[in-house]
Amino acid sequence: MIPVFEPDIGEEEVAAVADAIRRGEISGSFGESIPRFEEAFAAYCGCKYGIAVSSGSAALHLAVAALDVKPGDEILVSASTNIATALAAYHNNLVAVPVDSEPRTWNLNLDLIENLITSRTRAIIAVHLFGHPVDMDRLSAIAKKHNLIVIEDCAESHGATFRDRKTGSFGEMGCFSFYANKIITTGEGGMIVTNNSKLADKLKLLRNLGFTTPRFRHETAGYNFRMTGYQAAMGLVQCNKIDKVIAEKIRVAKTYDKFLGNVRGLQLPAPSANGRHVYWMYGVVVQPKFGMSRDELQERLREAGIDTRTFFCPMNLQPALQKQTGYRPIECPVAESLWKSGFYLPSSHTLSEKTIRDIAETISAIAKVGKTIVTA
Ligand SMILES: Cc1ncc(COP(=O)(O)O)c(C=O)c1O
Repeated sequence: MIPVFEPDIGEEEVAAVADAIRRGEISGSFGESIPRFEEAFAAYCGCKYGIAVSSGSAALHLAVAALDVKPGDEILVSASTNIATALAAYHNNLVAVPVDSEPRTWNLNLDLIENLITSRTRAIIAVHLFGHPVDMDRLSAIAKKHNLIVIEDCAESHGATFRDRKTGSFGEMGCFSFYANKIITTGEGGMIVTNNSKLADKLKLLRNLGFTTPRFRHETAGYNFRMTGYQAAMGLVQCNKIDKVIAEKIRVAKTYDKFLGNVRGLQLPAPSANGRHVYWMYGVVVQPKFGMSRDELQERLREAGIDTRTFFCPMNLQPALQKQTGYRPIECPVAESLWKSGFYLPSSHTLSEKTIRDIAETISAIAKVGKTIVTA
């Protein structure tokens, strides 16, 4: 089976992790690896401060916890995303209000934001879905007009740019995941980047149970969201490879574009109009013209030894969120249709041109047979 993704972890990472463990960097905030990784990754994003945490979900949770908001306030979120984005609001007693998707980029539709704002709306979490950068000029202007704080969910967009600026550097905070399938990985892990020194201090305090002096007396109810030193040591090695990984991701996407361009009824990922899409995963949408449902195509690909994943179930359809007090039922027809008809293909940056061509040819062959059956 060709997997949807295979992590690329080499001997350098193994050696760095082993060295960090030998130095005792196994828990707490000991050693140099965490501050070095924070500094290197924040600088890569064009930000002053990095706060390493235990996951992308923890990064989002902490970013929302650091806001000056009260229970029942609302946060707009991209409808099509991993539930972690909305849970960051939910677990902070705030209501996540989904913003439907845009059919071309699959990112949140900026035209819909102003109609969703109420007197309780405080912030917006915009997801750069699959590595496609959101139009941050427009989003920042809307947020400024309505006094909303912008948090960027960059779990899938390491190194993506909008007008030559990296995602994560536009909002008040940018939240990254270093889960195994992300552009760079620490196994589990995440980071918040920001240019706001007060927020950086607050985030560090919240990450570490609110520890200050005297030790064991706590003014702030924090969390243990710490990353370990040996994860940070791996992150540092991965950080040095990030531009190479992104170049390979773009190569993979362009190769798929070349071989799938002529398949009727398959919507391919749109390139970014004003920035760099990093194609974390290569997503496609199966249109009626394809002659077969998304589920059927996925099943046929699985039989041919090609693993795929569906797009996200949108936040307006999540039973877990619907039970919350203050929940707002919002229709998101585009995100719902993406959930029914979108899926992503194997997207490891190590995929060869031949493998990509084989996958594309399998899809073309399935399309031809499927159409014969439909018309027979
Ligand atoms: C858009 C998005 N946000 C948040 C997360 C959560 O990150 P993590 O799995 O590191 O908690 C993920 C992915 O896994 C994601 O894709």
